[in-house]
Amino acid sequence: MNTHVAVGSDQKGQAMQGVTIVDHPLVQHKLTLMRDKARSTKGFRQLLNEIGMLLCYEVTRDLPLELIEIETPLTTMRAPQIAGKKLVFAPILRAGVGFLDGMLTLVPSARVAHIGLYRDPESLQAVEYYFKAPSDLADRMVLVLDPMLATANSAVAAIDRLKERGAKDLRFVCLLAAPEGIERFRGTHPDVPIWTAAVDEHLNDHGYIVPGLGDAGDRMFGTR
Ligand code: PRP
Ligand code: URA
Repeated sequence: MNTHVAVGSDQKGQAMQGVTIVDHPLVQHKLTLMRDKARSTKGFRQLLNEIGMLLCYEVTRDLPLELIEIETPLTTMRAPQIAGKKLVFAPILRAGVGFLDGMLTLVPSARVAHIGLYRDPESLQAVEYYFKAPSDLADRMVLVLDPMLATANSAVAAIDRLKERGAKDLRFVCLLAAPEGIERFRGTHPDVPIWTAAVDEHLNDHGYIVPGLGDAGDRMFGTR
């Protein structure tokens, strides 16, 4: 069962409204393996892919269904299928790509929007270098993917851009979130719910999540 973070009347409680922590044991176990600094690039990438699948399962749990008429080998029946237009997965480059294969394994007909952003190391502001999305975002549910929600500058910039292009039904999926990032994200886009595997303690002076797992993009691609 997932933890739907309790809503309190204080400011922190308000910020945590709309945040679902996916506390499934498989997710938590794999996340622990990823946090270990000795984990290889190959292992890190593999685990991110596996957790992507598990998070996809949770974030799509309430998708609407419609009944269609089919013929089994024995008879006809009305059977459920997912209603509406295909989903859009919108990974934030680079690290968001780590979720993509796992999610496409579960939802192979989904469309993909690529959002190229990097965080300026001094200002921690998001800098856009690429954006390519399906033209009919207004008609589709868009799942924005990025393992790390730190200051939330990247996530907010990505959602701003997708909304500019018409997206209305958005969800954000990450692996680790900082309380500071959740507060900023929810304050800016209160209509966009968040799914995360964990909420960590705080951000350090360089905007890194503590205890965290380090730089997700570098660990995934073996750069530094
Ligand atoms: C990382 C991460 C997020 C961002 C989170 O990307 O993948 O996109 O930082 O930080 P924020 O919440 O403070 O914006 P980075 O900018 O390092 O780029 P990369 O994925 O290409 O390494
Ligand atoms: N981006 C990362 O990859 N890791 C952090 O801890 C913060 C931002």
